[in-house]
Amino acid sequence: MPPRSAAHPGPPVPADALAELSPERRELFHLRVQRWWPDLRDGLAAVYPPEVAAELAERLLACAATSFAERDPDLHRLDQARTLRPDWFQEPSMLGYAAYTERFAGTIAGVHDRLGHLEDLGVTYLHLMPVLQPREGDSDGGYAVADYRSVRADLGTVEDVRELARALRGRGISLVLDLVLNHVAREHAWARAARRGEERYRRYFRIHPDREVPDAYERTLPEVFPDFAPGNFTWDEDLQGWVWTTFNSFQWDVDWSNPDVLVEYADIVLWLANLGVEVLRLDAIAFLWKRLGTSCQNEPEVHSLTQVLRALTRIACPAVLLKAEAIVAPADLVHYLGRGRHHGRVSDLAYHNTLMVQIWSMLAARDVRLATHALRALPAVPTSTAWITYVRCHDDIGWAISDADAEAVGLSGFWHRSFLSDYYSGEFPGSPARGLVFQENAATRDRRISGTAADLTGLTAAREAGDAAGVDAAVARLLLAHAVVLAWGGIPVLWMGDELGQSGDPDWAAEPGHENDNRWVHRPWLDEAELAAAADPATVPGRVLAGLRHLARVRGELPHLHASIAAEVLDVSDPGVLAVVRRHPLGDLLCLANVTGEWRSWPGYRVAELGLTEATDALTGNGVPWGGDGDVWLPPAGVLWLRVLD
Ligand code: GLC
Repeated sequence: MPPRSAAHPGPPVPADALAELSPERRELFHLRVQRWWPDLRDGLAAVYPPEVAAELAERLLACAATSFAERDPDLHRLDQARTLRPDWFQEPSMLGYAAYTERFAGTIAGVHDRLGHLEDLGVTYLHLMPVLQPREGDSDGGYAVADYRSVRADLGTVEDVRELARALRGRGISLVLDLVLNHVAREHAWARAARRGEERYRRYFRIHPDREVPDAYERTLPEVFPDFAPGNFTWDEDLQGWVWTTFNSFQWDVDWSNPDVLVEYADIVLWLANLGVEVLRLDAIAFLWKRLGTSCQNEPEVHSLTQVLRALTRIACPAVLLKAEAIVAPADLVHYLGRGRHHGRVSDLAYHNTLMVQIWSMLAARDVRLATHALRALPAVPTSTAWITYVRCHDDIGWAISDADAEAVGLSGFWHRSFLSDYYSGEFPGSPARGLVFQENAATRDRRISGTAADLTGLTAAREAGDAAGVDAAVARLLLAHAVVLAWGGIPVLWMGDELGQSGDPDWAAEPGHENDNRWVHRPWLDEAELAAAADPATVPGRVLAGLRHLARVRGELPHLHASIAAEVLDVSDPGVLAVVRRHPLGDLLCLANVTGEWRSWPGYRVAELGLTEATDALTGNGVPWGGDGDVWLPPAGVLWLRVLD
């Protein structure tokens, strides 16, 4: 290690934890520290005063050293493999699947019996929704964590997680778990200690004796759950104070300006990494830093803190990726993959909320102009990162469409968002969708939407009505939505049930604690009958499953779809056809998607300009489907992935 001097203080060296290790292993640790020290140092310096930052660096590196020393040899091997192949998660063969453990497989151990299904789909990344010990009763789907170091008893044990991670790893599937960074349950040990009056733990939260400070913040704070948890502060008798609660009253926001909070979470991150978790979904990360006069979302400190956590994982467990769960406006979103001084230094993955919203907007409006404009306006992200692309997730869909983007294509943002809520709740005349309105906000008239992909594409309604043509059209829309997601680059994530075209759970409100939260409609139990039926490709689940499996297989063979290659949305020719090109040294790949219910065309001269006149559609193996007019024609909801074969 280079000597430290007052002018250029190098990293503090945590000797104790490393003492027992071989010289080679010690050296590896030191090399990693050298590589990531600037990220760690700069991240801390941007958040904390210098003396605090210096002391924190020491504490954090000591945690990293301990965790490195304790890490399983198998995981060290994975670290090496991933270091040699740092783009592993950007490969087009990556495919994600997200599920609630109990709804997918009963228990964590039960997941072993579902591996065949996952492998059949080609899954390489499995996100099991919150499994860490939540509070009893309503726990916001497990996002109110009472203990980060134990597992929900009905799902299994910590050892079951370790065992599952090992089995998945053996099959090339990465285990993804949630880490809620913004809040803990009111029943978490820190919150209990705070309620007992322990000063150290009161400082883990933001507690105010009266309404003065809360009211000052409330002036600019939005409400996440205006229906069932209005406001952002909750009076707590034990605390004799108002505690910050962005989400539900039982989810207490922690105070990241307290350095002890950072050390606690760093330690939890490293602990989960040593269990074999390969991707940590940083839940509600946008909310970590509070600043008076702002919405208290997306503050720069959030990115500096992520940079610190990432530097630590790169040092102790470089196989691990961080994934930002920031469901925010397009302009804020790209920062989670690193802009400016955070370029390439924060999360490796982030949810492409904008793409998801625009897919539903295109399908409802049967028009790609807004999506084209909004997606083109997104700044480039670092080529070393990847989007999580998805059609829908376990949360509701909020219409994150900016007024400026809408105006740029002659729409009113307010009315377009209102149209989308009408359309997806089935209120709009002729809409086949069956979504539910979530969290209608009387003040902003904002209405979010719940529903599975089948509910929103009209598959649920068509099946119920026995409308065969409607089923065909809805299956095509469902596959088109996924084709756009799979053609984007990044890790496409399928949400459990959508691979079978499963409808929403009609009994979603029956479970105690769920009655006010209709997001449970799109968190159904895996339907065994539909899964069995999917073996027959003539059934609806069979058609959906075969369609998705085919898209994923074809995708895996297309180097153009590596996440480092930007997805470039082309100018609109026909307002019903989305055109995305992936420029690769092998030649361009042109992805066309007809979002309407009619035949639509794309100009032949543009295909020629891209050098694709002789191209083959990767999805069918056919040549370019020219019409008699020299243009390319796509059937309703048709998709083409055109590229020239060698
Ligand atoms: C994330 C989760 C959501 C939860 C919230 C609070 O947004 O996806 O389900 O309600 O965080 O933890």
